[in-house]
Amino acid sequence: MSQLKDKVEEAAKHIISKSGTFGPQIGIILGTGLGSLAGRIEKPVKIPYDEIPHFPSTTIEWHKGQLVLGNLGGKKVVAMEGRFHYYEGFSVEQITFPIRVMKALGIKILVESNAAGGLNPQFSLGDLMIITDHINLMGMNPLVGPNDDSLGPRFPDMYNTYNTELIRLTEEVARDEKIKVCKGVYVGVTGPNLETAAEYRFFRMIGADAVGMSTVPEVIVAKHCGLKVLGITCVTDRCLPDALAPANIEEILKTAAKAEPILTQLVARTIEKI
Ligand code: HPA
Repeated sequence: MSQLKDKVEEAAKHIISKSGTFGPQIGIILGTGLGSLAGRIEKPVKIPYDEIPHFPSTTIEWHKGQLVLGNLGGKKVVAMEGRFHYYEGFSVEQITFPIRVMKALGIKILVESNAAGGLNPQFSLGDLMIITDHINLMGMNPLVGPNDDSLGPRFPDMYNTYNTELIRLTEEVARDEKIKVCKGVYVGVTGPNLETAAEYRFFRMIGADAVGMSTVPEVIVAKHCGLKVLGITCVTDRCLPDALAPANIEEILKTAAKAEPILTQLVARTIEKI
């Protein structure tokens, strides 16, 4: 057995020792300013990251850093309240480790949320974008290195990574709930600096609609281990190279907080329908 698999099993064992036979079906990652969904999870079992073997501890003050297991929309879920970013100095293995652990716990679907900059000029602040695809501009890949074939294939296919059936279902829910959604391509960068106007122009030229500092490595690992993925981005600032205004992290967090109840409603209702 590979070292990675050993670590994954140790972490999963600890979680099972706290949550019993509760087998989650769906994993959820709550992005920057989007944590309130965790509050809707019924009969929650909360496990701080620093208790879980091999889990890194989040260094970002607005990320809580705990797993929440419980029921949401009639489904058994495990939610990550706070994720790990490459810019925090973690290795690619560390930032994607929780995905493998959630897979070991039994999830079949991963729901990703994040805050990102809007490159598409048609987007407004606070818009929710269903991710249809991504571009990896992070200069790294979490699958580089020896491959453990029992975790996933050496050369995973990225076809239908953002599952079209889940996208269709989310659009249906948005229509029923009268929630405005758009769709688009997410480009992942490392950060931590926001980008130059020239970079925003370049991202737009290569086909991206939103830019952010997370999600891509997590989704690559999710695909490697056979999970279906749904990704939703909250557009927290506008990245228009010819009309650029200074970005402000407080404003970004404020916009995410404003969109949070709507995103929560969209995700909760979609999970109900899965
Ligand atoms: N760039 C990168 N990441 C981001 C941005 C941005 O403009 N906004 C929120 N996350």
